[in-house]
Amino acid sequence: MTDVSTLPSLTDAPAVTLAGAPVHTADADPAWWRHAVIYQIYPRSWADANGDGIGDLPGITARLPYLRDLGVDAIWLSPFYTSPQADAGYDVANYRDIDPLFGTLADADTMIARAHELGLKVIVDLVPNHSSDEHEWFQAALAAGPGSPERSRYLFRDGQGEHGELPPNNWDSVFGGPAWTRTTNADGTPGQWYLHLFDPKQPDFDWTHPEVRTEFEDILRFWLDRGVDGFRVDVAHGLVKEDGLPDWAEAQALLGNTDDANPEARTEDGARAPMWDQDGVHEVYEQWRTILTSYNPVGEQHDPQADRILCAEAWVTPQERAVRYVRDTEMHQAFNFDYLQAAWLAPQIREVVESSFAANDSVGAPTTWVLSNHDVVRHASRLGLPVGTRRPNGIGIGDPQPDADLGLQRARAATALMLALPGSSYLYQGEELGLPDSTDMPDHHRQDPSWERSGRTERGRDGCRVPMPWVADAPSLGFGPSDQTWLPQPASYAALAVDQQDGVEGSTLELYRALLTTRRDRALGTGSLTWVEGWPEQVVAFAVTPSDGGERTLVLANLGEHPVALPEGAQPLLSSGPLGPDGTVPTDTTVWARW
Ligand code: NOJ
Repeated sequence: MTDVSTLPSLTDAPAVTLAGAPVHTADADPAWWRHAVIYQIYPRSWADANGDGIGDLPGITARLPYLRDLGVDAIWLSPFYTSPQADAGYDVANYRDIDPLFGTLADADTMIARAHELGLKVIVDLVPNHSSDEHEWFQAALAAGPGSPERSRYLFRDGQGEHGELPPNNWDSVFGGPAWTRTTNADGTPGQWYLHLFDPKQPDFDWTHPEVRTEFEDILRFWLDRGVDGFRVDVAHGLVKEDGLPDWAEAQALLGNTDDANPEARTEDGARAPMWDQDGVHEVYEQWRTILTSYNPVGEQHDPQADRILCAEAWVTPQERAVRYVRDTEMHQAFNFDYLQAAWLAPQIREVVESSFAANDSVGAPTTWVLSNHDVVRHASRLGLPVGTRRPNGIGIGDPQPDADLGLQRARAATALMLALPGSSYLYQGEELGLPDSTDMPDHHRQDPSWERSGRTERGRDGCRVPMPWVADAPSLGFGPSDQTWLPQPASYAALAVDQQDGVEGSTLELYRALLTTRRDRALGTGSLTWVEGWPEQVVAFAVTPSDGGERTLVLANLGEHPVALPEGAQPLLSSGPLGPDGTVPTDTTVWARW
């Protein structure tokens, strides 16, 4: 954090005004998840206790105090279940056990208990759209053959064409290539096809099957009984497919990565993609909500700090449609991918902030905010690309490289803006260090299935999944006791290691700590938000007023070309980068001030 206590008084203060009514009014509901900051741990890459080069649960447990000190409220862990790791654990073979790579169920219990001791909630990842092809149900389905009850839990179909040699429909998979794979019968002849919206090793369940529903209800209870505080629900918009699986000629996007393919878009005549956002998914979440509520019943005994929650990963547009997942009978939160995808342009940011509040407020849900996760290029790299660049699905050797300094400066400003927004925010491991993506990883290291499935046209997500640097001068930068890491760490990570930033004024780690402490002290997460006007168009400025009517915070992010001054009476609390000698806010800098 920049020391702002010695700044000279401001000159040329502009005349600014609150722009009418708040765009979001203060939230008096005390439930923890309505304003929580949730830190995503990618278990493969956070901390490796046994030195095999892959992170694990004991590694996570040992490092949890770091997160308590960072000041987050909760952790969300990407999958750690038994899995052949064809999609880094999003291909689950056993939903009730831990993959030996990550540890044991006892390690999970220890991790959950330690997190709770430290005051951190624990959210685990639930992957209900598909299992691994190595799941016992899928293996039984293959063995049992066409027409069997075992096959009816997945989406097996006969092929088209004279000999069934063509896929049952024309759907593409999200990772590239067809969404259907043909099976081989016991006698070696070609058999039926099965649907996989992602990799062939991730067969889709048939959610019209009652056993699939009861199985997942039971899985929810299994983890709730172990004490988890909630679930992040993978591909929440994909479970139910349109009856008859009709053809859909539109290209699939890689997790919303391309401009020319948007899986949620309607066609010109208004048709909705038959594999996404079907109305039938909502019944599933209504049922899940009743299960979660049974762990903290509504009524006099209800403890708002003990709520168990569901968060939807649903790449659904428009937002009016997306917030159907967070009606008060369904999930508690949904990721705000519109926010993640907004360009570094003030009008676009204002627009998405407003539309997010309008949509979520209309159903009484907290708005969430996110800039990075394990599926997208880290924002410190994304924001170092020229504004208006298509959001890439991975960056590699030979691709246009981001401007690292610019990216980091903008990333710090973007985070300072985000963490002042009322609602709940998600952070992705390592962003508190300002980590860039690994953008020059040799391609032979790549493990994301989308690299091969796209015919090596999409580099995929490995660049944001590289193991964390903890200690500059240690094997694997302190990730584990050996020098092994499942993906190579870029040279730039050493200088960004935790030990290089801890206690260092102006470091990104200290900025995040200050943002999180100040956010809490000034109750920004539950405040009301009113735009403040009077600066050039490329300035995003708003005031947050706490729900108890306490002191107002002015937040100003300058995305324009010239420095701008703060209004009279504004006293800077922190800033994402150094302020000008006259107290002005330079380009690509965000300031929080008492006002
Ligand atoms: C979304 C997850 O975030 C991503 O990592 C995964 O590949 C797909 N869902 C498929 O499970």
